[in-house]
Amino acid sequence: MPSWVMGTKVIYFDNAATSGRKPVTVSHAICDCLKHANANPGRSGHSLSVKAAEIIYSCREILGELFNFPKTENIVLTKNATEALNLALYGGLKNGCEVITTSMEHNSVLRPLNHLHNKGIIRLYILSADGNGVVHPKQIKEAITEDTSLIVVTSASNVTGTKMDLQGIYHAAQEAGVKMLVDGAQGAGALRIDLKETPFDFLAVTGHKHLFGPQGTGALIIKNADDLDSFMRGGTGSQSEMTIHPDFPPDKYEAGTLNTPGYAGLVAGIRFILDEGLEKIVGYEHELTEYLLGKLADIEEIQLYAPDADRVATVSFNIQGTPPSDVAYFLDREWGICARSGLHCAPEAHKTLGTFSGGTIRFSFSFFNTKEEIDSAIEALKDFVKHR
Ligand SMILES: Cc1ncc(COP(=O)(O)O)c(C=O)c1O
Repeated sequence: MPSWVMGTKVIYFDNAATSGRKPVTVSHAICDCLKHANANPGRSGHSLSVKAAEIIYSCREILGELFNFPKTENIVLTKNATEALNLALYGGLKNGCEVITTSMEHNSVLRPLNHLHNKGIIRLYILSADGNGVVHPKQIKEAITEDTSLIVVTSASNVTGTKMDLQGIYHAAQEAGVKMLVDGAQGAGALRIDLKETPFDFLAVTGHKHLFGPQGTGALIIKNADDLDSFMRGGTGSQSEMTIHPDFPPDKYEAGTLNTPGYAGLVAGIRFILDEGLEKIVGYEHELTEYLLGKLADIEEIQLYAPDADRVATVSFNIQGTPPSDVAYFLDREWGICARSGLHCAPEAHKTLGTFSGGTIRFSFSFFNTKEEIDSAIEALKDFVKHR
């Protein structure tokens, strides 16, 4: 039995969208939860409800272990990174706030920020990255004014894989007394994030990408729970005698029944990472990425973006003179290779790279990909170039 599961034999290079192959323990944990702990967590006193609540608690605990953040009550479970980001932005930003962000952000950052900006609630400054997708801490430092209240930055670009200098940006923010929200959707499970070393005010993560959980899982980790208002209110199973929402975390931010089977799967996904070792996973993904970059360099028609970036296992490129969607279609239909083409929900990043509005072809790897799969993809790209 392989240590991963995927129904059909495909080459899956779309892990930045959702990790395709999961450790087998993930589906087992989901099934076990549905079979043996399928009750409402934290609502009733019976044994099954308590079991479900334990799963929820273990999810906070293991997220805390992964990110070195012991204050588990400040780990708010969400349905994805988008919800976590929206909670931080709508819960934290007030009239007159000034926000700095980067051109490499995903729409799950840009759209809420633009919405708040267009409503006249915040002032928004979007700093342009360089050709490698980097926004330097110095740029951030220079853009901070006495009115700046929040810096929002991605841990890694979902287009080019470029890692942001989170430590440098954190120090710039700290020096100026500005809060920092990190979009960890592409970084969690793909690079080291240690909240003891760099205690960002807010870290938003998603479960279904590099943490190997199922879709419908994510979290917002909040340094100081007084910093945010809740933006959803309802049943929590706590203080039920009151008709106003509890104001203690995590209940303050979690209204309604949680996705217990999903979080059971996420616990198993993170357990896999901790057991294998994050460094081993990151190291292997780096090896795959370097291998791909070396092979792509041999194909003259390939245009690689962010060529000198320090990156996670995500690479964007084009075949000169060909729409990326044609290439992705060919890879899928002729070679069974799943890759993503287009803008990857990050239009400003493509304006920075000069690839707006067609976008790029993106290969993104996980621990379960192999060099043999990359060899097949290179053969497929050569085949495309020869016959187009
Ligand atoms: C950088 C980045 N941020 C946020 C998100 C949103 O994640 P989710 O779809 O899990 O909400 C994504 C998804 O691709 C992403 O790549």
